[in-house]
Amino acid sequence: MRIGVLTGGGDCPGLNAVIRAIVRKGVQVYGDEFVGFRDGWRGPLEGDTMTLDVAAVRGILPRGGTILGSSRTNPYSADDGERRVLDTVRRLGVEALVVVGGEDTLSVATKLATTGLPVVGVPKTIDNDLGATDYTFGFDTAVTVATEAIDRLHTTAESHHRVLIVEVMGRHAGWIALHSGLAGGANVILIPERPFRIDAVCEFIEHRFASHYAPIVVVAEGALPVEGTLPSRGGEVDAFGHVRLSGIGNLLESEIADRTGQEARATVLGHVQRGGSPTAFDRVLATRFGLAAVDALHDGNVGQMVALHGASVELVPLAEATAALKLVPPERFAEAEVFFG
Ligand code: F6P
Repeated sequence: MRIGVLTGGGDCPGLNAVIRAIVRKGVQVYGDEFVGFRDGWRGPLEGDTMTLDVAAVRGILPRGGTILGSSRTNPYSADDGERRVLDTVRRLGVEALVVVGGEDTLSVATKLATTGLPVVGVPKTIDNDLGATDYTFGFDTAVTVATEAIDRLHTTAESHHRVLIVEVMGRHAGWIALHSGLAGGANVILIPERPFRIDAVCEFIEHRFASHYAPIVVVAEGALPVEGTLPSRGGEVDAFGHVRLSGIGNLLESEIADRTGQEARATVLGHVQRGGSPTAFDRVLATRFGLAAVDALHDGNVGQMVALHGASVELVPLAEATAALKLVPPERFAEAEVFFG
């Protein structure tokens, strides 16, 4: 079979492990040929390809990023985008696509699959917010990076008797904040699912200082104050209509300092969470997803996405995979709240 592969959306550690697994299994077990599309949906939209054979995937298992490149291009916002993608696929003799992406990239795959093009999806996002899979690869690495940062910030916070605020990624879902905050012993965790009251945050901070320890606040970039309690934030919008967020950490820094009289400093982890080598967990998960995606194509299980359910890799319909975001449920947040203050 001649299979096209693309990686779209925000990159994450483990993408190269998936690509390697897809190519190694496809070539060695099924005798497949591959076409690498560059930069997500931009590749098929503009006919931009690269060689993707066993030689091209040698040595990439532990490497962060993606050898295919990535972008947030949405063919459905481009002129005649769907037809251009299908024309490229036909012209190159590509019989099926493996699409590695998050909510946005896979929603395009879902639409394209309805045209009859055989597509299998592989979920990826450091945010871990795709409803149909228990975990996405990239998440464990992001949480590990954020936890290490929190561990380091604890010691300098103690030396200077300061509040340290760590802003992590998570636009709609607070999974990275929740897990790194729990693992790193944060005194307050703020997530998009639970609007916060700045006075309550300040009370936790004062309580922590009263016990002669310095507080660490972990905040997801998409965390919001209860309406009307702090100035609102906004910014540019990307091709999928998402507002580019920034600034909650810095806003908290000034509000906390003004309200408590304590020194506060914000650290914005940003893309550090997405870069570098994947953890062993993410390498294994990504590898298993890649192997399962190739099997799915050969078994005729198209229009599906590979997903982790418990310890098993299973298939779910693509349409279901992108239907709902997986948000932090109140009972998971309540586990973290035990340690606030
Ligand atoms: O969706 C993954 C993600 O890392 C989000 O956590 C974050 O909001 C976004 O990507 C950042 O996007 P960009 O790299 O385009 O700034």
